[in-house]
Amino acid sequence: MLDTFEQAAREAGFALDDAQRAAAARLSRLGAELAGRRRFFAGPPPRGLYVWGPVGRGKSWLTEVFYEALPLPRKHRVHFHEFFREFHAVYARHRRERNACDLAVAELLGDCRLLFFDEFHVHDPGDAMMMGRVLTSLFDQKITLLATSNYPPGGLLPNPVHHHMFEPTIKLLEASLDVVEVAGPRDYRTERTAQGPRSRFETGQYLCSPDPQHLRAAGLEPPTADERRQLDIGGRALTARAVRDGLVWFDFHELCGERTSTIDFLTIADRYDTWVLAGLPRLATADRDAAQRFANLVDVLHDRDTRLHLLAEAPLAEALHGDTLPTDINRTLSRLRLLNGT
Ligand SMILES: Nc1ncnc2c1ncn2[C@@H]1O[C@H](COP(=O)(O)OP(=O)(O)OP(=O)(O)O)[C@@H](O)[C@H]1O
Ligand SMILES: [Mg+2]
Repeated sequence: MLDTFEQAAREAGFALDDAQRAAAARLSRLGAELAGRRRFFAGPPPRGLYVWGPVGRGKSWLTEVFYEALPLPRKHRVHFHEFFREFHAVYARHRRERNACDLAVAELLGDCRLLFFDEFHVHDPGDAMMMGRVLTSLFDQKITLLATSNYPPGGLLPNPVHHHMFEPTIKLLEASLDVVEVAGPRDYRTERTAQGPRSRFETGQYLCSPDPQHLRAAGLEPPTADERRQLDIGGRALTARAVRDGLVWFDFHELCGERTSTIDFLTIADRYDTWVLAGLPRLATADRDAAQRFANLVDVLHDRDTRLHLLAEAPLAEALHGDTLPTDINRTLSRLRLLNGT
């Protein structure tokens, strides 16, 4: 399988760096083990991998090439946030049963042999506790896990107030997975080529001027007061400044300043494929929870390949600068640099 990575890189117009080559070799071994495992219930499953490193090093790219090339029908790839949304819905149906978590995992994943979580981050202590149980069920059901993250296992659930709760799960991750660091020389996302946008997300814009003329020139008609709408998100009302066909327009404080969850963002992203988020402040001046929600929102929109027009109070580097911001903001910055106008 090693050649597959080299070839995919050539086709994409680049060469693998040393860290990527080492990870590709380890992934190839996993691929051979998974493909060669004919009798699934005989013996332990192949040991999974936890691929981590700084933003834009090609972790998602490598693991996607691996996943696509893997000749295994019973594989499942899911964005971490998305998995939890589905999981909570299924778990709720089983919650009166003693082994609710096992049942929910079995129902969601069936006879899946490889589960691939892109972007494994845990911030919510409730999710973290559930995560421990989900992982135990996965490993009991002999499902091999592949994950990518910006954190080493020991750095997950970074908030020092809650971190200790996650320590048993960290031990479980370290005991069950090989940890592979992919920390190449730079954030490749910053090397946007002249080829033009490669994804819908990259067709979005970052605008710093609130001037309506500038917005119109960028193809964005400012909302009028009577375009304001209440959206029903799982029984709760959320205010949008405007809703036009596939477009939804939010104000930063109304969206990220409320107790919105990643699940809410996923629900809204199901309905609208173009978003405008107006009034992005200098995040250092915003509430830390709002900054974390904003990071989660950008993850969701980037992963869904949603077009995002971000109307900000300051240039990107300034808006996202601050020592006290969540670590995830580095990932947000790397993704937002893909927008036009940054
Ligand atoms: N060796 C390379 N040279 C140039 N570009 C590369 C290389 N490897 C990957 N890329 C490109 O870099 C971009 C970022 O890669 P990717 O999304 O996989 O990063 P990541 O490590 O998952 O980042 P994050 O932690 O932010 O999720 C992709 O567009 C990918 O095609
Ligand atoms: Mg990634």
